[in-house]
Amino acid sequence: MSQERTTLIAGNWKMNGGLDEVDGLAGDLAGRMAGLAAAPGFELAVCPPFPLLPMVASAIEESGIALGAQDCHGNEKGAHTGDVSAKLLAQVGCAYVIVGHSERRTDHGETDEQVRAKAEAAQAAGMAAIVCVGETEAERDAGRATEVVVGQVVGSVPEGATAENLVIAYEPVWAIGTGKTATPQDAQDMHAAIRASLADRFGAETAAGIRILYGGSMKPGNAAELLALADVDGGLIGGASLVADDFWAIGQAAG
Ligand code: PGA
Repeated sequence: MSQERTTLIAGNWKMNGGLDEVDGLAGDLAGRMAGLAAAPGFELAVCPPFPLLPMVASAIEESGIALGAQDCHGNEKGAHTGDVSAKLLAQVGCAYVIVGHSERRTDHGETDEQVRAKAEAAQAAGMAAIVCVGETEAERDAGRATEVVVGQVVGSVPEGATAENLVIAYEPVWAIGTGKTATPQDAQDMHAAIRASLADRFGAETAAGIRILYGGSMKPGNAAELLALADVDGGLIGGASLVADDFWAIGQAAG
């Protein structure tokens, strides 16, 4: 992690959590933030399912914890049954929207082009897009991991990226929910390749400010090692974000 980038620890609840987690998880984290003697050296964000967003927004109000959504539509509004606009997410208090998670790329066939439109919509609504990229195990085994991931970054990140409106999450697909993680060297190499690609397009100064998170089985036991890497600026946490003690411990490892 670099001094100029505030470490972001974002919890991706996925299709987990219900009404009990509003106070039991989000409220619990807010209480822990309030109990800190000094400002934390990291930023926490929680990304619950859509219906919980306004309630979680209330539970974390004034805690310094940011709210994020897990998806948005690429269009501003219209006839898109079941989809949610970026503008509405901003209205209910979201600062972040995860776009292009590998589960959405797989489950819903999302393409780089669609992910780019979603990121653009999130940014236009005043939020930061957390653009997810990552290779499959077969792609890594074939020696194509960097090519695939950099290709996704090029295809999924809209023009006009800044340190404020863009976060990248590198999540090797084979590491998500599996208990496997990238080695520190592989993670650092990929994060550096992503930053180099951002620098080519947006300039070195902008790229130096954009946070690149690692995701895929990050836990209290491996977080400190991953977060200490030069180009790893935080984590996108799935399973471990559902347990307040674990998520908090990852934040502590960052701070
Ligand atoms: P995991 O999920 O931490 O459960 O591996 C990470 C993610 O998919 O964002």
